[in-house]
Amino acid sequence: MEHDSELRITLIGAGTIGLSFAAFHLSHLTSPSHLTIYDTRPNAEEYILSTLPQFYQNGSVPISLSEINIATSLSSAVSTASIIQESGPENLSFKKQLWKQVEQHAPKDALLWSSTSGIPASQQSQDMQDRARLLVVHPYNPPHIMPLLELVPSPETLERVITRTQDFWLARGRVPIHLKKEITGFVANRLAFALLRESIHLVQSGVVSVTELDKIVESSMGPRWAVAGPFKSYHAGGGPGGLEAFFKNIGGTVQACWTDAGQVNVGDGWEDQVFREAREAYGIVATTERDAITRRVLNTIEEERAKTIGGEATSN
Ligand SMILES: NC(=O)c1ccc[n+]([C@@H]2O[C@H](COP(=O)([O-])OP(=O)(O)OC[C@H]3O[C@@H](n4cnc5c(N)ncnc54)[C@H](O)[C@@H]3O)[C@@H](O)[C@H]2O)c1
Ligand SMILES: *[C@@H]1O[C@H](CO)[C@@H](O)[C@H](O)[C@H]1NC(C)=O
Ligand SMILES: *[C@@H]1O[C@H](CO)[C@@H](O)[C@H](O)[C@H]1NC(C)=O
Repeated sequence: MEHDSELRITLIGAGTIGLSFAAFHLSHLTSPSHLTIYDTRPNAEEYILSTLPQFYQNGSVPISLSEINIATSLSSAVSTASIIQESGPENLSFKKQLWKQVEQHAPKDALLWSSTSGIPASQQSQDMQDRARLLVVHPYNPPHIMPLLELVPSPETLERVITRTQDFWLARGRVPIHLKKEITGFVANRLAFALLRESIHLVQSGVVSVTELDKIVESSMGPRWAVAGPFKSYHAGGGPGGLEAFFKNIGGTVQACWTDAGQVNVGDGWEDQVFREAREAYGIVATTERDAITRRVLNTIEEERAKTIGGEATSN
């Protein structure tokens, strides 16, 4: 059904994440009229139609944005949807009430997805009649550019819901990863926040400045990890002996860094200095340029991978 030309997607919440998903779906749906958006902000239609073009940096804005359905009630928004994707406020009671209502008006086989950064499906589904339907589909901002979707089921989520969701994203060239357990922050943010903690520690202890820390990441593991994740990278770093050889060689240094790792916490007093340095160095960051470059990096990686299909295991 997800490949059907009749596929209809409803987005609930048209903020940062909802509109980015709108841009993604518009480039894959048969017609903009198959996209419905529901948002309770005043003048929602005007806001959506004037903000959505910002998500197209290459001048390829679909000319028929006006064909998008802007719903004025939740029940009409979901009544004929094949997929209902929620990107509303990060608020448990909002999400619980929402799913309870959505369930009453949506087709029985519609997929129900939440973009939440941290409220597990097992909590959001508490007031649903059929808790097996809900799945967290956590994007990495901005999802019209970033390929990752973390699929985080509750213990009750039906396997079939997960596989249909995986198939949907795979068919659209995206990278859905099924997390086997609900865990605080999911995986991508946990990794990023571990690096952020050590970054703050290194600035706070006077080793480098905020901008020097950023230059270090941008000139080393940033580009490396876009091509090969930490395990593949260090497996390569160990030469023919792989990850095991890597740890044999410098496992002592690795452990010494872990032992010495900064245990900074939110509210510890590092904030004033770090926030000020970031503000003075960067002001308000223009994400348009960042996103355009990120898109080109990802496109290049995809093109190069397509050339070397099959040579992967031996080429590095
Ligand atoms: N911003 C990020 O980087 C990011 C990344 C991944 C996931 N998320 C998650 O995505 C969700 C949305 O985040 P965001 O940053 O886009 O928030 P946002 O505040 O930009 O957007 C939320 C939208 O929901 C609308 N809304 C409020 N009440 C509503 C209701 N009752 N019905 C319909 N719409 C309603 C608001 O008008 C607003 O447009 C959150 O759950 C968040 O945790 C955010
Ligand atoms: C332009 O942007 C759209 C949607 O954001 C994307 O699908 C398309 O591939 C982009 N085209 C180019 C040439 O980058
Ligand atoms: C969360 O949502 C509930 C229900 O929609 C609302 O009453 C409450 O004010 C919201 N809380 C916050 C902090 O916005």
